[in-house]
Amino acid sequence: MSGYNYAKNPESMFGNDMRILIVGDKGQAGQAMHRTLTSHDVVGYDLPEVDIGEPAAVVRIMEQHEPDVVINCAAYTNVDGCVENFGLAYRANGLGPQNLAVACAAHGIDLVQISSNEVFPGEKAEGYDEWDTVRPINPYAKSKLAGEFNVRSLHRQYYIVRTSWLYAAGGKNFIHTMLRLARQYGKLRVVTDEVSNPTYVDDLAASIAQLIETRQYGTYHLGNAGFCSRFEFAAEIMRCAGLDVPITPILGNEFKRASTPPPYCGINNNVGAAIGIEMRDWRVALADFLETQELKNDQTGHQ
Ligand SMILES: NC(=O)c1ccc[n+]([C@@H]2O[C@H](COP(=O)([O-])OP(=O)(O)OC[C@H]3O[C@@H](n4cnc5c(N)ncnc54)[C@H](OP(=O)(O)O)[C@@H]3O)[C@@H](O)[C@H]2O)c1
Repeated sequence: MSGYNYAKNPESMFGNDMRILIVGDKGQAGQAMHRTLTSHDVVGYDLPEVDIGEPAAVVRIMEQHEPDVVINCAAYTNVDGCVENFGLAYRANGLGPQNLAVACAAHGIDLVQISSNEVFPGEKAEGYDEWDTVRPINPYAKSKLAGEFNVRSLHRQYYIVRTSWLYAAGGKNFIHTMLRLARQYGKLRVVTDEVSNPTYVDDLAASIAQLIETRQYGTYHLGNAGFCSRFEFAAEIMRCAGLDVPITPILGNEFKRASTPPPYCGINNNVGAAIGIEMRDWRVALADFLETQELKNDQTGHQ
């Protein structure tokens, strides 16, 4: 196997017929990738069928499907749970990407590794650029950085995509929780000192679909444009939903959590924008999501 085989199947790389393998395909991002990549040949796996922390399982699915691109949406995303279960977190978030990178490198397969804004310490009010120095401050973020590190050091055909504050239809997410609490209690208390980019997962999926056609490997920041505090996010959700509830601003230290979130941790999309991959403003994406998904589902009584 050559060290740098540009593409396993160059004929298919720029067409509508890529073979794509998604791992973590039952999660928010995995499902959105399925909805988006309809013009490709897509197959997906998740736990318990395939654990990406298990090298033999990764090799088996690679050999079975011979993909052109692997999109890793699998992760241990329970941020507070990572404090107690760092071993589990590292298995999914560090070792999993390592196994995928080794297998992809052996067969010249492109790899998309989804990472997080939390690799940064959260000290930059103007938001982090792709080239800024990483310094994770909690166990989840450390495991995600390990995943990035492993992919970069073991493979060359990678796209590392950092994103932030994902939300999706039907899932447990901040929007859903705020709407439920507002209706239940008629008031909210929300933190002001946690800032990032709320990101509609379908927008992320559309950008990744664009990215994998480019073969412009590297590190990307793909969140909806602009950032806000959790407090501002909640206020915008209430405004869009037409709910007039008082929201009390509080600080993170008034809200006990096992993990410490990085406070000012927005991400700026410089690299994607330079190759024509732009993401819309978070407020526009949120209004679209609420209109087409969350509030529509509310009216029909579904979640
Ligand atoms: N959600 C956010 O706000 C956010 C923000 C920034 C970055 N990200 C990153 O974005 C990516 C997608 O996140 P998401 O919100 O779509 O996550 P998600 O909804 O929690 O989905 C992750 C999926 O991966 C599966 N999984 C966990 N460990 C696995 C393993 N060892 N092998 C195979 N599958 C495994 C999970 O299964 P179980 O449910 O059974 O565990 C789940 O189905 C992740 O890399 C995450 O770190 C997310």
